[in-house]
Amino acid sequence: MLAANRTALVTGAASGIGAAVARRLAAAGDRLVLIDRDASRLSEVAGELADAVALPLDVSSADAATAVREELGAGGALDVLVNAAGVVVEPDDDHALARTLEINLAAAVRLTTGLVPLLRRAATPRVVNVGSVQADRAATGSVAYAASKGGLHAATRALAVELAPDGILVNAVAPGFIDTPMARLADGRTEYETDWFQSVYLEHGRLPLRRPGTPEEVAVAVSFLASPENTYVTGAVLAVDGGLGAAL
Ligand code: NAI
Repeated sequence: MLAANRTALVTGAASGIGAAVARRLAAAGDRLVLIDRDASRLSEVAGELADAVALPLDVSSADAATAVREELGAGGALDVLVNAAGVVVEPDDDHALARTLEINLAAAVRLTTGLVPLLRRAATPRVVNVGSVQADRAATGSVAYAASKGGLHAATRALAVELAPDGILVNAVAPGFIDTPMARLADGRTEYETDWFQSVYLEHGRLPLRRPGTPEEVAVAVSFLASPENTYVTGAVLAVDGGLGAAL
């Protein structure tokens, strides 16, 4: 079933998973509102899509929800909200913890609650947050990131309970190793090309499917959770990790 004429807002839409989600929802007939702080790449993605408007802004700015409300007009409805914007801040940054929690967690919660009046007006409102496997399993140097994603998974469950009476379903995906610019190292390689990744995850099979995932594979899961066909999944965190979380 195509989700004809739904309006979907995707944050982090200029790159990686957010861009793949935007393209997939647009292909299903949705009208897109796209947010990213990278204005030029955002306008490139919006330009590819049939019906998309770009709002170049920082999700952590206090007026992000206001900008969306203004774009959709008084009485406007929002069918889908996908919170995909996220960062990894180097741990030696003095403000790493505060910045990471602000962008990856607080901004997503604030945008969601700020847009509840618009979501309530939609026939089948859905919110999907992009969490991470790092919410449950740690890597070195990732305290801020892991805490932000753990908080986002918890907020997903709490919002699902809180918004259920409004018919707003709230879920998250927890991607594992996904080949996007976020996985790129300072030397230009992706972390998936490093010896340790090849050895531990691929040769020794710590990653059962033995390859990183693509942004499009995450978008498939997001689009199901966001679809009107999803009528009974709420408060869930769906791992999209090639079996990483299932392996001993
Ligand atoms: P990406 O770096 O390709 O895309 C992230 C986008 O978010 C960028 O376009 C960036 O400009 C935007 N962004 C960052 N901070 C922003 C802000 N304050 N305001 C507006 N836009 C902002 O990375 P990717 O991989 O597509 O990440 C998307 C989401 O997926 C993130 O939440 C990330 O934490 C999550 N994720 C990624 C994984 C991976 O392996 N790539 C694994 C698990 C989760």
